[in-house]
Amino acid sequence: MCGIVGLIGKGFETKQVLNLLKKLEYRGYDSAGIAYIKDKEIVIKKSVGSIDKLIPKVKPIKINAAISHTRWATHGIPNTINAHPHTDCKNKIALVHNGIIENFEEIKETLKNKGHEFKSETDSEVIAHLIEENYKGDLKEAVLKSVNLLKGSFALAILSSEEPERIIGVRKGSPLVFGLSDDFNILASDITPILKYTKQVYFMDDKEVVILSKNDFEVLDFEGNAIKREPQKISWNEESAEKQGFKHFMLKEIYEEPETIKNALAGRISNNEVYLKEIKDLNLGDIDKIKVIACGTSYNAGLVFKYFLEKHLNIDIDVEFASEFRYKKISPSEKSLVIAISQSGETADTLESIRMLKDKGIKVIAVSNVVGSTISRESDVTIYINAGPEIGVAATKTYVNQLIVLYLLALEILRKKNAFDKGVKEVLKSLIELPEIIKKIIERSNIKPLAKKYKKYHHFMYIGRGINYPSALEGALKLKEISYINANAYPAGELKHGAIALLNRKFPIFAIAPKDKFYSKMKSNIEECKARNAKIVAITSEGNKELEKICDDVIYVPKANEDIYPIIISPIIQLFAYYISSTRGYNPDKPRNLAKSVTVE
Ligand code: AGP
Repeated sequence: MCGIVGLIGKGFETKQVLNLLKKLEYRGYDSAGIAYIKDKEIVIKKSVGSIDKLIPKVKPIKINAAISHTRWATHGIPNTINAHPHTDCKNKIALVHNGIIENFEEIKETLKNKGHEFKSETDSEVIAHLIEENYKGDLKEAVLKSVNLLKGSFALAILSSEEPERIIGVRKGSPLVFGLSDDFNILASDITPILKYTKQVYFMDDKEVVILSKNDFEVLDFEGNAIKREPQKISWNEESAEKQGFKHFMLKEIYEEPETIKNALAGRISNNEVYLKEIKDLNLGDIDKIKVIACGTSYNAGLVFKYFLEKHLNIDIDVEFASEFRYKKISPSEKSLVIAISQSGETADTLESIRMLKDKGIKVIAVSNVVGSTISRESDVTIYINAGPEIGVAATKTYVNQLIVLYLLALEILRKKNAFDKGVKEVLKSLIELPEIIKKIIERSNIKPLAKKYKKYHHFMYIGRGINYPSALEGALKLKEISYINANAYPAGELKHGAIALLNRKFPIFAIAPKDKFYSKMKSNIEECKARNAKIVAITSEGNKELEKICDDVIYVPKANEDIYPIIISPIIQLFAYYISSTRGYNPDKPRNLAKSVTVE
């Protein structure tokens, strides 16, 4: 997720472009850049860090065409070389990109053989060279030919010194919009920068190209056919536009999950096989133990990984809280695989655990969301979860993407261990179908009224079995951290060993009971709770009506492969916590006493 702003018009200040770009800084802020045309040449300025660091580098002059970008790194660390805009060999084409190009390595190889020279590690740079290769005097034709060769998701803004009177935008998978105003026309990755100038916004659909000039625009499909486009009137103010109309970032980020799942999967599955290039040199077939270190939500993601892999493989997996692990004298054996999970890549306890292991010469694989973070730099390899920036303190889309990446890693281990049987193949198939399923779950869920009903309680107990015990832990953690309700999580079979004593009509149960192999046992546990007068909310699979007789409220999720229920259930437990928090009048984005990155012990 990055921010794009392009301007074309009669004359505007470079500063104006950067001020508009600042409105998209919430989409990524590790580096920024601008390209504009001066004296028929492309001028590029880039900088690491926020847009404020870029401003002093850019001359305050009047220009007619510019594209700009604020980056959230996916391919290549945040530095000035990897920052956008990227250019072709002759510096005549500049472009900025949001998304992931899945086949960039193949294209890069082909173009290198044709003599193109690359400067950055990014997937984005190949697009500039590809357009250069296809340019025969008409930028529009070159862009159309090139975008049809790209696989993946992309929003692009393109500028050429050969045709300075227009900028071109392309959308496939990643959003792009444009608006027209008296002084200039604007292309952007979302509506926030446009609203200051006009409330009439043109939304681009997938596989469309827009050619924007100072007085006009033309929308085409990828075959070059003209498309009629009408503007839509937007009533949001600038602040709500930043959250795309959602009341809080947390809610927006939950709604982004279908998209972020696509980004976690992009380029990692081909011909029904997992392809995690980051770990291609590891000898996964040889490992005999796995140690996972993490904190909070990342720890819960690690537990899901453990349950999934231990179900399909006879291997011992320990998941440890990093805050405990860092003080142990443990030295995992040479045949152990050590995985550190941290969305921020900066969590002090996880980092210190990694340092402790590295001092002993042990290799660590990190799973993180932040390219160039300390944990990713200090680990041997990092598998990125590609969730884009998460502003809400509570992990939501990053949890879901951690799960996706950990399932992929588990599948890769199973393949290397010759345990990639039919059941496992089904899991891979289910992962591919997830974006659509999660979209439906989020759109159809009606959690708000339920949250209103349960917001008055002071305690909650989440229960689940097997791979959904970690879902119970995650549900309870979400509720605790943003609603300040005391919430516990138990493996459902463990209740009778003590915690059941807590239950009465003032102590509700949140039961995670999809139709899986534990369902009948879960049902008995739910009955046990009902017998203690506890109110019960349950999640179960569509079509299973019998829980309605014993539970006070039932939330249905689509029937799915039982191994992936923790992903299916995630948006529900997140929305439940979100609505309880917001209906209690709290700000779920900024829970008290918590920080997004816990960089202290
Ligand atoms: C999750 O919602 C939390 N805010 C917290 O538990 C978090 O998961 C934990 O601090 C670990 O963070 P990390 O993934 O950035 O290492």
